[in-house]
Amino acid sequence: MIFAANFKMNHTRESTKNYLNVLQQKLTAKKSADRVLIFPPATALDSYHGDFTVGAQNAYMARNGAYTGEIGLEQLEEFGIRTILIGHSERRDIFGERQEHIAEKFAYFKAQGFEIIYCIGEALEIREEGNEAVMAHLFAQFEGIDLSYEKLIVAYEPIWAIGTGRSAKTEEIASTHQALKQKLDRPLLYGGSVKPANIKEITAIEGVDGVLVGSASLDVESFSEMIFA
Ligand code: PGA
Repeated sequence: MIFAANFKMNHTRESTKNYLNVLQQKLTAKKSADRVLIFPPATALDSYHGDFTVGAQNAYMARNGAYTGEIGLEQLEEFGIRTILIGHSERRDIFGERQEHIAEKFAYFKAQGFEIIYCIGEALEIREEGNEAVMAHLFAQFEGIDLSYEKLIVAYEPIWAIGTGRSAKTEEIASTHQALKQKLDRPLLYGGSVKPANIKEITAIEGVDGVLVGSASLDVESFSEMIFA
């Protein structure tokens, strides 16, 4: 299983360091087949070494240059960061990242050999239209994305389940993952209100290769409880 923690705009440099220290002590007991990925905010990136991988939540598709407010390859290389989240619904919806831009960013980081956690997901109105609409929407988010990239991990995160405490139902996750897997031969994570109370049920679903966790990953005890559930 893959356990990924997306801190979003939470935690500081100091609290991330403490978090990773505590996490590492626990991870010495982790199963070797399991992988743990941590995405702290950009200001907390550093050269960490442990039984986990630290990745960037976002970066711009250039080595460096006149891109006010962004970080690029040079800033990631300083800390040996080789993993990035691309296409998260908050980047799409709050920051207006369009599919074309996301696909360009994907191509750039793919060319750099990064591991890419590529996120897709539908809004509630689309889910309410039914399965066909959901799949059409999700497949549209694959436009311009090389699904055969060997360092690709996909995360399916229904937007209506993110940060709401309301995870998708087991059958919804199962059928969506099954449909995605017909097009995809890469690990597929589920994200959206994953927490200690539902982790076992979610990781037991066929076609779920791991989880991407926001809120419930912010506390190291809660996140490790999920890894060892
Ligand atoms: P959540 O966020 O666990 O708080 O729902 C998941 C995500 O957005 O990656």
